[in-house]
Amino acid sequence: MKKRTILITGGAGFIGSHVTRLFVNKYPNYTLYNLDALTYAGNLENLTDIANKPNYNFIKGDITDEIFIQELFQKYQFDGVLHLAAESHVDRSITDPLAFIKTNVLGTANLLTAAKNLWKNNMEGKRFYHISTDEVYGSLGKEGFFTEETPYDPRSPYSASKASSDHFVRAYYHTYGLPVVISNCSNNYGANHFPEKLIPLAINNIKHSKPIPIYGKGENIRDWLWVNDHARAIDVIFHTAKIGETYNIGGHNEWTNIDLIKKLCEIMDTKLGRPKGTSAQLITYVSDRAGHDMRYAIDASKLERELGWTPSLQFDEGLEKTVDWYLANEEWLDNVTSGNYQSYYEKQYTDR
Ligand code: NAD
Ligand code: DAU
Repeated sequence: MKKRTILITGGAGFIGSHVTRLFVNKYPNYTLYNLDALTYAGNLENLTDIANKPNYNFIKGDITDEIFIQELFQKYQFDGVLHLAAESHVDRSITDPLAFIKTNVLGTANLLTAAKNLWKNNMEGKRFYHISTDEVYGSLGKEGFFTEETPYDPRSPYSASKASSDHFVRAYYHTYGLPVVISNCSNNYGANHFPEKLIPLAINNIKHSKPIPIYGKGENIRDWLWVNDHARAIDVIFHTAKIGETYNIGGHNEWTNIDLIKKLCEIMDTKLGRPKGTSAQLITYVSDRAGHDMRYAIDASKLERELGWTPSLQFDEGLEKTVDWYLANEEWLDNVTSGNYQSYYEKQYTDR
């Protein structure tokens, strides 16, 4: 197998840690560098099982630091980039939009520029893969799906920053011939998901018998994909997609928030040995998210048809596996919900 030197950004985060593990274990001939600033969302505990592998390296650093990024590319001579580092939580983007513009837009532009400078005389075999979101397409009504041709219509500071970063990636492809690929994925769930997002937040709250906050009427719809299936898709796209292409990734798995939470409550009652209906009593409707997108749903047929990827896991099984992981990893959950998490939670949910 060919030797490669690959930069993964955001590898200590939720999706990044699953992608890093998959690449480290599957490609012993690759030298992998995980660059992560270790913000509140980055956690090296996500990677303890691979930390000592000979093909894995961790670098603490910030993608918004232009000089640092230029020097890093010159030093390690990467031939591939998997770019996942981002500010990723919509609610935080509503309170602090500038942090999202800085990391998601400027950070991506820095990486693109460094790759362009390093590869300018020989783009052969190089690849810059930008991992993005379905939120760039906006919000659907009851009908229809996001395809790769759906016009961009981002509606939160988070999705606007991701849309902007996607545009920069395409601009570097068209202007400089940078060998890029982009994927836009729906909502992920699974192990190591930071408990600011709906599913792990609800698991943590149920565990502690705290209210489960449901925004608005709970009728908003998301299309959930097991994080390991996203990592598999990223592997396939990185290795086989045609340069310049975009792929949507999704789970064919739409749920209203309230139905999803009711299902999760049933699983938690069983796993915790609590009488049926106990967890559902914690469901609490709170004021809606500003600009709350109604429905996301992905048409992933291009990826399935052209690259042969399909999701591997049914939601029932995936959700149960996820609950099992959180209950077996209490220390992980306790560590990430101590300290700053408490003040975030209070600010976000008190008097809502
Ligand atoms: P996450 O918030 O769990 O992790 C983000 C990681 O990036 C963290 O480890 C953090 O420390 C790091 N990071 C943040 N700012 C940085 C900076 N300036 N420099 C270096 N590292 C920095 O996010 P996630 O949910 O794993 O998402 C990963 C990527 O996938 C993001 O680009 C996100 O937009 C995209 N995405 C996420 C989902 C989802 O459901 N979570 C779905 C589709 C796409
Ligand atoms: O679609 C992909 C996107 O999915 C990713 O790009 C984002 O990084 C990721 O965070 C996720 O965005 P969402 O906003 O859809 O995920 P979140 O878990 O924050 O919310 C899921 C739904 O649940 C959404 O309709 C808002 C609602 N919600 C969320 C929280 C945190 C609640 O009702 N209560 C809550 O406390």
